Amino acid sequence: MADMYLRSNFALLSSFILTLSIMYPVSMSSESSYIVYLGNHTDNILPSGVVAFHQELLVGVLERPEDVKERLLYSYQNVINGFAAVLEPHHAEALSAMPGVASVFPNKAYKLHTTRSWEFLGLEHSSGAIPPASLWTKANLGEDVIVGLLDSGVWPEAESFKDDGFGPIPSRWRGTCETGCNFTAADCNRKLIGARYFLKGYEAAKGKLSVSSTGEFVSARDRNGHGTHTASTAVGNFVEGASLFGFAGGKAKGGAPRARLAVYKVCWPDSVECYAADVLAAFDAGIHDGVDVFSLSIGSSYVDGLFSDAIAIGSFHAVMAGRVVVCAAGNDGPYPASVANVAPWIITVAASSIDRSFRSSALLEDGSTYTGSSLSGTRLSKKSMYPLVFAGDARVSTANASAGEMCLPGALDPEKVKGKIVACFRGLNPRLEKGYVVKEAGGAGMLLLNSAAYGDEVLADPHILPATHLTSDQAQSILKYINQSRSSATASITYPISRLDQKDAPKMALFSSQGPNRLVPEILKPDITAPGINILGAWTEASSPSGYFEDHRRVKFNVISGTSMSCPHVAGIVALLRALHPSWSAAAIKSALMTSATNHDDANRPIRSASNKKATPFNYGAGHVNPNAAADPGLLYDASADDYFLFICGQPNYRLLLPEVTLKRNMRCPSEVPSLLDLNYPSFSITNLTVNVTVQRTLTYVGGGPIYRSLVQPPRGVGVEVVPRQLSFSRLGEKQQFRITFWPRRRPKNTSVPYDTLMQSSWKFGYLTWTDETHLVSSPIAVIA
Ligand SMILES: *[C@@H]1O[C@H](CO)[C@@H](O)[C@H](O)[C@H]1NC(C)=O
Ligand SMILES: *[C@@H]1O[C@H](CO)[C@@H](O)[C@H](O)[C@H]1NC(C)=O
Ligand SMILES: *[C@@H]1O[C@H](CO)[C@@H](O)[C@H](O)[C@H]1NC(C)=O
Ligand SMILES: *[C@@H]1O[C@H](CO)[C@@H](O)[C@H](O)[C@H]1NC(C)=O
Ligand SMILES: *[C@@H]1O[C@H](CO)[C@@H](O)[C@H](O)[C@H]1NC(C)=O
Ligand SMILES: *[C@@H]1O[C@H](CO)[C@@H](O)[C@H](O)[C@H]1NC(C)=O
Ligand SMILES: *[C@@H]1O[C@H](CO)[C@@H](O)[C@H](O)[C@H]1NC(C)=O
Repeated sequence: MADMYLRSNFALLSSFILTLSIMYPVSMSSESSYIVYLGNHTDNILPSGVVAFHQELLVGVLERPEDVKERLLYSYQNVINGFAAVLEPHHAEALSAMPGVASVFPNKAYKLHTTRSWEFLGLEHSSGAIPPASLWTKANLGEDVIVGLLDSGVWPEAESFKDDGFGPIPSRWRGTCETGCNFTAADCNRKLIGARYFLKGYEAAKGKLSVSSTGEFVSARDRNGHGTHTASTAVGNFVEGASLFGFAGGKAKGGAPRARLAVYKVCWPDSVECYAADVLAAFDAGIHDGVDVFSLSIGSSYVDGLFSDAIAIGSFHAVMAGRVVVCAAGNDGPYPASVANVAPWIITVAASSIDRSFRSSALLEDGSTYTGSSLSGTRLSKKSMYPLVFAGDARVSTANASAGEMCLPGALDPEKVKGKIVACFRGLNPRLEKGYVVKEAGGAGMLLLNSAAYGDEVLADPHILPATHLTSDQAQSILKYINQSRSSATASITYPISRLDQKDAPKMALFSSQGPNRLVPEILKPDITAPGINILGAWTEASSPSGYFEDHRRVKFNVISGTSMSCPHVAGIVALLRALHPSWSAAAIKSALMTSATNHDDANRPIRSASNKKATPFNYGAGHVNPNAAADPGLLYDASADDYFLFICGQPNYRLLLPEVTLKRNMRCPSEVPSLLDLNYPSFSITNLTVNVTVQRTLTYVGGGPIYRSLVQPPRGVGVEVVPRQLSFSRLGEKQQFRITFWPRRRPKNTSVPYDTLMQSSWKFGYLTWTDETHLVSSPIAVIA
């Protein structure tokens, strides 16, 4: 999503700065909000006693005990034990030293990170018929699985959420439809079964939400559009004739059209921030309510520990309770180590393209044509050519060169722009805003140019004026033409057309956040990639498709891009797998998705990056999601609550207290903690290969075989041996172990130089595949060698 993705970079920056200033307050005495995490609830405290217990803890550190009620924002009482409160830094410090307190961390902000995409994934034929081998058929479209979205709310009137043909709400559902501004229980139905909103964390950090200046609904109703879009991608009904301005037309639907929807609104204006205290409250409610699959298109790549991150904590409790959590990897690419939501119990989703393009061409007077990408719904008023000007040559005298080239607000001189097509560089301000700036200055159209850093990645945005987005190579040619023809350059822009012809799909999105995992390098992240470019989904009718206040257009569907869009695709598929295999754990479902993923594009070449290089598992994890194959994976890398518990024991820098006292009272960390590398994960990440490293895995037999043999594609310069090489299973559900040893084939030149685990260039990649000749159970390998 254009503006969201750019605007949210500011949110990221500010939340990062906020974190630093809260973490290191030095001598400043300033109140802010914190989360005090206490792990699990103990059996001997009744829910009614929880608030009193939290208040008691808090009173213990306050100078004025009578403030306790005012300071306590949330008392988490269902599943997660903890509270959020407004505190002075020294209160937070005192609390963190108290027995039973697992962690204390600032209430920081996370940012918000279709018709065609499901067909592309093989769930549907292009005729719209559903093939019999489709996971849709097998899983009955995800019937009765409950999917919960933590996002900006929902537009309940959207057709995607109508309940025609839905049976009674599953009796295990314990959630509610909260009344608020323009939202009552009557807005829920048998499809949209729950809607709650959480605002206290936001208001504690930002002050009271101004309804008059933001137009926001203090309820689960979505003003932004993002939450409606992600919800419709995950579970939207079949909707005939869905389109944006007539583009991307067809039948809109989510991944699991028969699943139920529960909405937890945690993201609020202006910059669309989702505060940790609200996110944790939503998890606590959602687990209690009976959500089976959580989908979070939010996150931050700047977290400093798994247990000082509300998403990691909330999802941990969800997975412990047998639920599945799917999160966006983030839109901070193409930089290494930018991936967010890296806990091993989360399914972390990157974004890639589908085979649809929205083409709009720039025609130049010299006869050349450059085909770009656009969803502008407006036409140039006359057929003939328009004068073409480079924005850098049309700036007002007070604007600097980059403000002019990038078409920042106020930078263009109407005298030099009026009636012309203006060529603006991408960067600094949102792409859609550039269109406004050109239109406001009297321009007729816009060519949006990539600089070299943006390469080939062009996005179809609903521009306010005729516009098309062009690659950096095209941009160079166009600039050359403008330069050569001096003031006589002219151009035209064709109206967009939609085509299903992108043979290089899936191709990674430039914005998709990348590995390695900066928090836990022993776990390869992201896990998987799914469609996240130009995705059609339902939209709010409370704001425009561009999100700009001045834009008065209203649409029922919008096309947007981001890992925000790929995440609910996977959440929908998880709902299908849940319906098909109700007994599978979160880890088993993740394993099925990952080991069946593909790392080739439609033309059977390795998946490429936005800059047309061969992509790596740090871009796509195990590969592109392949739902039909995930239904029948052959073998699973399963993991239980105990496995995650041992993983936490093995983490450096964790207070031992955390796992032992709070998470699992009857289990203690063993004196010899297992290697982090031995978590039964469906991928391998080896951070220090100076000597032989052997790791262990366990496979669970769920189909095919009965004999599976191993195939290894070793990373360059690395030896790999699997023992045993072949596994023979005799009954479904049987578990067998194997070991895999890695060794450096070349002696490192200077072993005393520490490896930089965050540097992508020092990593090498390979694959381990188990096969019975029908199933391919593949795991990516990443090694520093
Ligand atoms: C919200 O409610 C107010 C008051 O009833 C009404 O004027 C307004 O039109 C409603 N807005 C929407 C988007 O339904
Ligand atoms: C140019 O101006 C813009 C805003 O007017 C500002 O953000 C930017 O930092 C300036 N750049 C330089 C190089 O001075
Ligand atoms: C335009 O062309 C001149 C020479 O013809 C060259 O010196 C200049 O760098 C060019 N400018 C751009 C922006 O390409
Ligand atoms: C947390 O407590 C609940 C209820 O006592 C229990 O069912 C659950 O297993 C506990 N979770 C962990 C991780 O110990
Ligand atoms: C490393 O493992 C390989 C394969 O098992 C073996 O051949 C080699 O001797 C081992 N090297 C060391 C130093 O243990
Ligand atoms: C290895 O690198 C370190 C750090 O750069 C340096 O101090 C040391 O002298 C080097 N050792 C050798 C044997 O080159
Ligand atoms: C890598 O492992 C070797 C041998 O176990 C150890 O001496 C070295 O300190 C490790 N280096 C890093 C960066 O962890």
